[in-house]
Amino acid sequence: MALTIILLSFALTLFFILVFRNINSRPSSRLPPGNTGWPILGETLSYIPNPAKFMRDRMKMHSHDIFQTSLAGEKMAIFCGALGNKFIYSNESKFKMWLPRTVIDILALTNIDTSSPPWKLFDEHLHKFLRLESMQNYVPIMDTKVREHLEIHWMPFNQVKVLPLSKEFTISFFCHLILNIYDSDQVKELATPYYDLVKGLMSVPINLPGTTYNRAINASKFIREKLLELVSERKKVVLAKKDHVNVDFLGGLLRASIEGSDIISEMELVGKIIALLFAAFHTTSNTITFLMAHLAEYPDVYEKVLQEQLEIAQSKEKGELLNWKDIQKMKYSWNVVCESMRLKPPGLGGFREASTDIHYGGYTVPKGWKVHWSVYSTHMDPVHFPEPEKFDPSRFGEKQGRGIYVPFGSGPHMCCGREYARIKVLIFLHNIVTRFRLSKANPNERVIYTPDPVFVNGLRINLHSQKE
Ligand code: HEM
Repeated sequence: MALTIILLSFALTLFFILVFRNINSRPSSRLPPGNTGWPILGETLSYIPNPAKFMRDRMKMHSHDIFQTSLAGEKMAIFCGALGNKFIYSNESKFKMWLPRTVIDILALTNIDTSSPPWKLFDEHLHKFLRLESMQNYVPIMDTKVREHLEIHWMPFNQVKVLPLSKEFTISFFCHLILNIYDSDQVKELATPYYDLVKGLMSVPINLPGTTYNRAINASKFIREKLLELVSERKKVVLAKKDHVNVDFLGGLLRASIEGSDIISEMELVGKIIALLFAAFHTTSNTITFLMAHLAEYPDVYEKVLQEQLEIAQSKEKGELLNWKDIQKMKYSWNVVCESMRLKPPGLGGFREASTDIHYGGYTVPKGWKVHWSVYSTHMDPVHFPEPEKFDPSRFGEKQGRGIYVPFGSGPHMCCGREYARIKVLIFLHNIVTRFRLSKANPNERVIYTPDPVFVNGLRINLHSQKE
């Protein structure tokens, strides 16, 4: 009898525990499916070395619409597919911009809310500077810059390492157009510490002498000091009205700030310039590097690009610079760049923070959770891109639906540097193919993810002169 009572009370307790747990777990059962991985690390160590595989595996395992994970120490919902991407692009009021803590600390960003007054002035001016109508006028300047770069760093050699050269070119190009810095020593002074800064962005945030993170923090301080000197010197020139009108971004912004009522502090301005360089730096240098690799790997594609570019070159006087009309003729070349960016996206996608509880696909993403849309959820989907691993520029002959091909994102936060990037890459491509044939020095050079794709040895390329 005693045993029956004991067993009965045990069964009742178990029953109540199960019922109670079920009631309590009901709200969390509406969270997106998925795993949050290890404490603190979450699933970061699976994401960084292969974001494409990370997305493929989890979409298969959890859901093709949305799943939860934990990255950079934060609970995160990843919206997937064209519908997930479109949901984020068309509901930006439900999200705030978000970047991992290490990135904010290293870039010394005090505020990433682009609607706050100093950002607003910076942003408005940036969009004005980078929009297509304005960028069209920079084509001859960009062409001059590319020719100068190739003459010094490519023409004298039979072999080059593309990644370091494209990084150097990207920084010197940025310094010229954005800051009006031409002097190569001055560019080097900023570029060398900038490489340390970038290495720290994905490092473990341990600020002890000798760590990658510590070197990045010191590099950021050094760059800020140099840029502060530059900005205050430039301000004096603008105030004395000795500046050229509309030459570079910084000059125009300082003029707008002085003439208008929105005064932007020098410290804030410098932080934003460093962040802008970050947005432009690895994206364009990676695009150029993978484009060169694809041209070397696919001679038939190279031939078609060459024909298009030769027609443009032959329509011009000797030494005449490219102009906007020439860029518009580079249609097949742009398809090649697009296919290269589909397979090796220069940016991962975008990150946000949920400003409110967000209901999507039958699940709830709680307010405060971080949110990610990833280029890999659609770029490698065979439904949108049959045989997704195949390099086939002809797939870009037709228009893609919204939210599918998104190397630059879409909606209000779509990359505002896309025209700058497009024109720069096409001009680079024109000058390369009209001078060289390319072959890979090591056809088996591996690509690793950091989480951006990079060639382990920076992509060594053999250059064969077109006249050979
Ligand atoms: C091939 C080159 C590039 C690619 C693939 C690229 C890609 C992207 C992506 C995916 C985003 C995130 C959008 C989001 O969060 O939803 C972004 C944002 C941004 N990019 Fe780019 N980018 C490139 C070049 C550039 C350049 C050259 C600049 C500046 C000169 C630039 C400036 C920006 C800025 C300022 C943002 C933030 C926009 C905002 O939040 O409103 N990007 N870019």
